[in-house]
Amino acid sequence: MTDRPSVAEYPPVVLPSPERQLSLKGQKALVTGGSSGIGREIAIELGWAGADVVVNYLSGDEDAQEVVKLVGRRCGVRAYAHQADVSDESAVQSMFQRMKETFGGIDILVANAGVQRDAAFHEMSMADWNMVLNVNLTGQFLCCREAVRAFQRKGVVPEVSCAAGKIICMSSVHDIIPWAGRANYAASKGGILMMMKTIAQEVAPWRIRVNAISPGAVRTPINRSAWETPEAYDALMKLVPYNRIGEPSDIGRAAVWLASDYADYITGTTLYVDGGMTLYPGFDAGG
Ligand code: BGC
Repeated sequence: MTDRPSVAEYPPVVLPSPERQLSLKGQKALVTGGSSGIGREIAIELGWAGADVVVNYLSGDEDAQEVVKLVGRRCGVRAYAHQADVSDESAVQSMFQRMKETFGGIDILVANAGVQRDAAFHEMSMADWNMVLNVNLTGQFLCCREAVRAFQRKGVVPEVSCAAGKIICMSSVHDIIPWAGRANYAASKGGILMMMKTIAQEVAPWRIRVNAISPGAVRTPINRSAWETPEAYDALMKLVPYNRIGEPSDIGRAAVWLASDYADYITGTTLYVDGGMTLYPGFDAGG
């Protein structure tokens, strides 16, 4: 393992002035799966907080370009779209290389790209299993590894942030709630939970913060059938004590805060942004 930096190598923590705390000005962020759903909103919110943003996507060039345009509405912020399959090692490495050449480096990674391929367990194909594990878990491994390498090379730049780098892994309430018919998806999210904590433990001495956000039911294309009709929405609300579906901006705001120096000293945690979905809602009257 690379030698841990000695404590003396670090500048003292200088917390930013109150009006700057939630600013990400001068920081460079990569959002994978940034052309739709939760990733789209995170990319936009990071840009509005002042970060330069790379919008990674696999398909849907027009959607990605639209996000780039929305990010760029905040003046002075740069953005571009980059097509890459996060489960392809060399594609991920080229994506980070281009970011280095274009923006000069990276401060924030939001490893968000994810897919679902649902099937009853006894019918789940190897292709469905591999697809979900490759994108959701291996994809985050590859992106986190490149980001950690870049953060370790760069170190802390106090004018930019208290930390050398910040990683946010997009997980799900299904990192702890089992989900029938989605063994591949739940396994990938459970894997993210422990991968995130292990990376966080390992790289904390470099002042690299690694955390996860676990959204509950959020209004995005991935779960359209769960909110599209009034009947489906009502059924969904039985699982959400807060009695409303999550909006992508609920996750976007959490990501901006977690990436900011407001959250310095937070590492290895999972932030559940789920309207109480993990509170065992079925027990509100029973048990
Ligand atoms: C899934 C959604 C689902 C939500 C709550 C998310 O991780 O992608 O499809 O609605 O969890 O069950």
